[in-house]
Amino acid sequence: MNPIIDAIMNRRSIRKYTDQPVSREDIETVLKAGIYAPTGGDAEPWHFGVLTDRKTIDDLDERGRKAMSQSGIERIVAMGTNPKYRLFFGAPVVIMIYGEKVLRKTGTHLSALADCSAAIQNMQLAAYSLGLGTCWIGLMRYLFASDSCFAPEGFDPLYAMTLGYSAGAEALRPRSRMEDVITWF
Ligand SMILES: Cc1cc2nc3c(=O)[nH]c(=O)nc-3n(C[C@H](O)[C@H](O)[C@H](O)COP(=O)(O)O)c2cc1C
Repeated sequence: MNPIIDAIMNRRSIRKYTDQPVSREDIETVLKAGIYAPTGGDAEPWHFGVLTDRKTIDDLDERGRKAMSQSGIERIVAMGTNPKYRLFFGAPVVIMIYGEKVLRKTGTHLSALADCSAAIQNMQLAAYSLGLGTCWIGLMRYLFASDSCFAPEGFDPLYAMTLGYSAGAEALRPRSRMEDVITWF
């Protein structure tokens, strides 16, 4: 199969990781794929924070879960207080994705979220092609409301992405896809 179509069709969110570290070279390849994403007006309104220290990752995970448990949203509180739940699933690498507040190249606020999301998708597919697993983490948003999570000046934390080697079939949740989502005009 065409390797790009293979990556698109077979990439899955990985929610359990082995302890095997990811090489610096592979992390850099994944990040490079991120910065090659399409970007409105060539704005490149992103910055990436790379966490590989176990304690730093675990501290951030704990802060994220605490924020979830204080969100007041029943489903989120239940997740945040579940002793088995980990936001980063024990991944050895977490990439923080920060979006520029005011786009330095265009002076607008238009596309940081879209451009950063494109970068994450690129990173997920690149990681898959290297035999690595990822999961896009939006639930950090409950922490972002009160904590910049190492964001550089002028940037907001938008998402996190886990990166590491999949622990196998137990890392996957079943997934179905809606069919009635395309109209030909
Ligand atoms: C914007 C966004 C936020 C997400 N946030 C989370 C998250 O916080 N935790 C999580 O486990 N998965 C998260 N996911 C992953 C989705 O749950 C996952 O992509 C979806 O269930 C489809 O499964 P698949 O990625 O295996 O195809 C997020 C995905 C997106 C696009």
